[in-house]
Amino acid sequence: MPLLEMSDVTFTYRGAPEPSLRNVTLNIEIGDVVGLAGASGAGKTTLCLTMAGLVPHSTGGDLDGTVRLGGRDTEAGHLGDYLCPVDSDRALVAMTFQDPESQVIGMSVEEDLAFGMENLGLSRDVMRERLDWVLDFVGLADLRRTFPFALSGGQKQRVAIAAALVMQPRLLILDEPTSELDPQSRAEIYDLIHQMSQRLELAVVVVDHSLEDLATTANRLLVLDRGALVCQGGPDEVLRQIPLLQQVGIRPPDVAVIGAACIEAGLVEPAVGTLSDETRLVDALRTLP
Ligand SMILES: Nc1ncnc2c1ncn2[C@@H]1O[C@H](COP(=O)(O)OP(=O)(O)O)[C@@H](O)[C@H]1O
Ligand SMILES: [Mg+2]
Repeated sequence: MPLLEMSDVTFTYRGAPEPSLRNVTLNIEIGDVVGLAGASGAGKTTLCLTMAGLVPHSTGGDLDGTVRLGGRDTEAGHLGDYLCPVDSDRALVAMTFQDPESQVIGMSVEEDLAFGMENLGLSRDVMRERLDWVLDFVGLADLRRTFPFALSGGQKQRVAIAAALVMQPRLLILDEPTSELDPQSRAEIYDLIHQMSQRLELAVVVVDHSLEDLATTANRLLVLDRGALVCQGGPDEVLRQIPLLQQVGIRPPDVAVIGAACIEAGLVEPAVGTLSDETRLVDALRTLP
């Protein structure tokens, strides 16, 4: 059974003239790192909220089709059933929002992280253990007593990710975690996402408006345009669709444009990484006679 199953989902916000999601069908399994890309207004955040069951529970609006999370229909259930399931010390889903400051609730990093766990009904000892573990995992152990607003952009994103991770969700959704970060902090967040996928038993959905970092971190990419999934597949499959990506307002990574031209010209064979990783493209070109 897939962790998340969306079948022919169309969603319209209350009072909106047209749907924000159109006939979306997809599955996500534990172990997946799913990159979700699309131009501004394409429906990325709405899709995240739908995966998390917040659509339609928190937003209102009309949802057609079905969303099953951990085998349960999200529309039929109560939000709390899968955000904090009573029969498990793991949440089914946790999500971070684009603006990390909107999620700060405590006076210190550790207070912020404790808040969510209290809803899971964990014992004090388990909470303390998890807090130490998550602070270490995201690299914030030295900043645990810091006032969250005093942190840098990258550190605030780490706190937001830690606050989700501390719930040990099966599905972790990160909505544009790097949109306000400099290249160095971006790289660190993507490295953290890679670490999570390698070391933890979960699925991660990461939203980005560009494919550059998603293509090297995700095992599957989804491309949204005006609420519809216009393309999904492995990075090499999706990056080959240069004209489609340009048409929906996503700038394809330079390496994909050059790699696709090399494949087209018969210079290199299509192979894993040729369109997303410069080193692999250069290696492939080196083997030319
Ligand atoms: N609360 C809302 N009520 C009505 N329309 C909304 C609401 N939130 C988003 N939309 C509309 O839904 C579409 C998708 O928005 P969104 O999911 O935020 O896109 P993205 O995250 O890709 O920028 C946009 O046309 C936006 O105007
Ligand atoms: Mg958004």
